Amino acid sequence: MKAVAVFPDDKKVALVQHEEPEITEKDQVKIRMLDVGVCGTDREIVSFDYGTPPAGSRYLVIGHESLGEVVATGKQVTNVKPGDLAVLTVRRPCAEMCPACAVGRQDFCYTGNYSERGIVRHHGYMTEYVVEQAGYVNMVPAELRDVGVLTEPLTIAEKAYEEIETIQVRMPWTCPDETGGRQTCHTALVLGAGPVGLLGAMKLVIEGFRTFVYSRGSETEKPPLVQAIGATFLSTDVVKPNDLPAACGAQIDVVYEAMGAADLAFSVIRELGRNAIFVFTGVPGRKNPIPVDTATIMRDMVLKNQLIFGTVNASSTHFQNAIADLGKFRAKFPGTVAKLITRRYTIEEYQQPLSSHGGIKNVISLNGA
Ligand code: BGC
Ligand code: ZN
Repeated sequence: MKAVAVFPDDKKVALVQHEEPEITEKDQVKIRMLDVGVCGTDREIVSFDYGTPPAGSRYLVIGHESLGEVVATGKQVTNVKPGDLAVLTVRRPCAEMCPACAVGRQDFCYTGNYSERGIVRHHGYMTEYVVEQAGYVNMVPAELRDVGVLTEPLTIAEKAYEEIETIQVRMPWTCPDETGGRQTCHTALVLGAGPVGLLGAMKLVIEGFRTFVYSRGSETEKPPLVQAIGATFLSTDVVKPNDLPAACGAQIDVVYEAMGAADLAFSVIRELGRNAIFVFTGVPGRKNPIPVDTATIMRDMVLKNQLIFGTVNASSTHFQNAIADLGKFRAKFPGTVAKLITRRYTIEEYQQPLSSHGGIKNVISLNGA
């Protein structure tokens, strides 16, 4: 079967013939891939800056943002059946089975010896069929066929949001006029209007936040999308970081960073409000050091009870939450979620979405779907 593979030693990316996997264990599921999203991580891997083939293989099949259709299941599988749509998680536990991996939380792996499908030491999903243990397979309702591939990038926001909620229990965080944990008294700022930023903004909006999206550039497609979800677009061309609290008309309670630009992120940290929380999700390329006013940041972090944290990967629960929230987004922002998918390419056209960065989310569609 066809697969898109990177050969790091040969500095080559190619469409290869890869052996079709078959079910060998009772708890396995075979999935025919339908859509595979392309993200910045994939572009880094095909630039040979990141990514590791499995032991004994010269190449790594890339792709970690999946949507497929179940075609066969082992005898013990109960969570999915043939015909179901499904999304697979990305990370697999370390061989040591550290305390986090032992309880299925390899997104918090202690040893760093985890593998990630399509990224490190494990082939990915940019191919025709994959076989996986049922525990890593999440059922997706049929009505999410067109947007299900956005599940994985949304899991980043789902995990970040769960962490924010857990951390903010440290203080009175409930909004006085609200029930059910809605956050209508708080302001959130999203950095970046790529897929992770826009999906994060949707999550913050449905949780009740007054939400702003701060983005570079003057692309015309993104401001209307931001507006359509009830958030406000702020351009870096117009609003300087130190004008952000004024532009938001309130103190900034949450920053969800999804841009991967360290210089901009650290300028925004200075604008954080009291008891505020800043989440990093972007992985910047290695660039030259930049000057940062560390004394001001440290002073504010202490005197304003601020908290900065980073988050990576996601657990099965976050995949399930993301699938449920994609349904909510579609109901609340009709027609908007599908607009995040800029274009679908065939697997033969893999070079285009991997080399250019046009639009929002580009997808490889397999098996002619
Ligand atoms: C993926 C994560 C992964 C991370 C680091 C991201 O693009 O979405 O699942 O943990 O890269 O490899
Ligand atoms: Zn990704």
